[in-house]
Amino acid sequence: MAKTKRIGILTSGGDSPGLNAAIRGVGKAALGFHGMELVGFRDGFRGLAEDRRMRLEKDTLAGILTVGGTILGTSRDKPYRMVVDGRKRDMTDAIIRNYRKNKLDALVCMGGGGTQKNALWLAERGLRVLTLPKTIDNDVAMTDAAFGFDTALGIATEAIDRLHSTAHSHHRIVVAEVMGHQAGWLALGAGIAAGADVILIPEIPYDVGKIAQAIRRRSRHETNFSIVAVAEGAMSIEDARAFHAAEQKRDRARSKVEKRAARLELDALEAKHNGNTLRLAKQLEVLTRLESRVTILGYVQRGGTPSAADRLLATRLGTACADLIQEGVFGLMVAARGNGTEAVPLEKVAGKRKTVPLDHDWIQSARRVGTCLGD
Ligand code: F6P
Repeated sequence: MAKTKRIGILTSGGDSPGLNAAIRGVGKAALGFHGMELVGFRDGFRGLAEDRRMRLEKDTLAGILTVGGTILGTSRDKPYRMVVDGRKRDMTDAIIRNYRKNKLDALVCMGGGGTQKNALWLAERGLRVLTLPKTIDNDVAMTDAAFGFDTALGIATEAIDRLHSTAHSHHRIVVAEVMGHQAGWLALGAGIAAGADVILIPEIPYDVGKIAQAIRRRSRHETNFSIVAVAEGAMSIEDARAFHAAEQKRDRARSKVEKRAARLELDALEAKHNGNTLRLAKQLEVLTRLESRVTILGYVQRGGTPSAADRLLATRLGTACADLIQEGVFGLMVAARGNGTEAVPLEKVAGKRKTVPLDHDWIQSARRVGTCLGD
């Protein structure tokens, strides 16, 4: 008789709506359909390193489809650099030991870009790993979509919708900060869907003068309020240049001293970037003479019930993942492709980021409806 397969599951990186739906999808298909056993690890790779387990049976998987967050807990810990007792340690060996101790036949890691890298790291060390793409930023490479994005898009859109009436009533500029440090999918999508007048994303460095011009143009046409949707990582042309130069220095650095100096320069630029949205609002106030206010949407975008589309996507990817384990194929991310799924080698995903292409349809559409993109 064939041995019962035993599957480990963990969720890693920032939480996203749809994680529980994905745990349920993998879990129900693995337990009920394929007759496998399941074990959950708490708080991402840390739980596997510390062998902190959670029983995952039929009853634990019931009623979680619509629940936000992750029943397993999550963390941003990396297998090879984890703070333990106040010291950074490489926990790869502990992870491999616990994988073997629990007699796992496969490990399912759900997460964004960082998780894909960590999963590849473990796959290269002999673990049988499969991943699912999760992030509200929608920036995991090689997949049409990641779960979490659709829900966050809905939340951010509704929030920006609500800003219109107050901005209109007070004749103000309202700058709404949307999550997304490196990729502008969320700000662009929500900005278009909610009819923002200006949308600023990391992929298009902005000229504050041009934004002010666009807002003043609206005022001349008796529309003296404006909504600006700005991604966390959007920056001015000058700041983008400074970041680019510092990153080049870091990449070229050979000696320890050079590396440290480049790191410090980047840290200083990052620290300066915090609060950028507030500074932008101030600059626009001065340049347009319209009162400005800021709304930072923050973690509201990651919380609560997943949308129908995210539940569906997470269930599709999760069940496909269980089927791949049954087939005995590993080292893959289960990607969304059209109406189906596709297994993509982790090497093609890890270390890559899906940013918004400058010729993307959404960008063209935004420009066609007269939205200022800051360039
Ligand atoms: O990666 C998802 C994300 O929500 C980003 O949009 C955001 O910049 C980041 O996580 C925030 O990370 P943390 O939860 O560690 O504060």
